[in-house]
Amino acid sequence: MNKIRIDTLPLIYPLPAVLMGTMVNGVANYTTLGNCGIVSVEPPVIHVSSDKRHHGNKGIRDSQRFSVNIPSTSMVVKTDYCGIVSGLSVDKSQVFGTFFGGHAAIPMIRECPVNLACEVITVVPVFDMEVFIAKVVETHVDKDCFTGGWLDTKKIDPLIYCMDNRYWSVGSEVGRGFEDGKKYAVPQSQAGGQPADAGDALHGW
Ligand SMILES: Cc1cc2nc3c(=O)[nH]c(=O)nc-3n(C[C@H](O)[C@H](O)[C@H](O)COP(=O)(O)O)c2cc1C
Repeated sequence: MNKIRIDTLPLIYPLPAVLMGTMVNGVANYTTLGNCGIVSVEPPVIHVSSDKRHHGNKGIRDSQRFSVNIPSTSMVVKTDYCGIVSGLSVDKSQVFGTFFGGHAAIPMIRECPVNLACEVITVVPVFDMEVFIAKVVETHVDKDCFTGGWLDTKKIDPLIYCMDNRYWSVGSEVGRGFEDGKKYAVPQSQAGGQPADAGDALHGW
């Protein structure tokens, strides 16, 4: 082992950069976040961690609703802009085209290939952050981001934020989930574990 112990950092990167959409005093606002993740696939539950001083947080506190929008790499300049300026001092409602699904408090971004409309389940305060845990109530995907009837990562082309403070694009496919692990040659000393059935695993995580 040849490692260097560095300052403590939450180095769980890469992460997709997302745009959190909120309505604040009747105006759409978009906040760039890296700290967003999945809590549960079924039911679909996600979380975002956003500083309580952010303009967008006010919109969520008022309506208990927000959107998560996945920008493509072509949207890097606008996405970073929404992470540099605050709706407290700048109107960001015209940076993107906005559409609404079933609720007027959930603005979503037309240009983003994937949009999630979310309703808050609970809020966890952590230091200066508000962690909004929310149910996904609508999922929208651009028609041209499918191949063979299912989502195509390359077509979605998500914008990735990494520990080097740079944006990246997704690289090449290197394997299949719930499949490649079956090829593991278990050493005799560890024998005994059976690989999970892919179907069971998907419903059990
Ligand atoms: C790449 C990137 C990632 C960011 N991730 C977060 C984050 O996860 N949580 C957060 O509170 N702020 C994050 N920010 C900072 C906010 O986006 C920024 O403070 C923004 O201006 C707040 O906008 P608002 O006040 O209009 O809501 C990030 C900014 C960038 C550029």
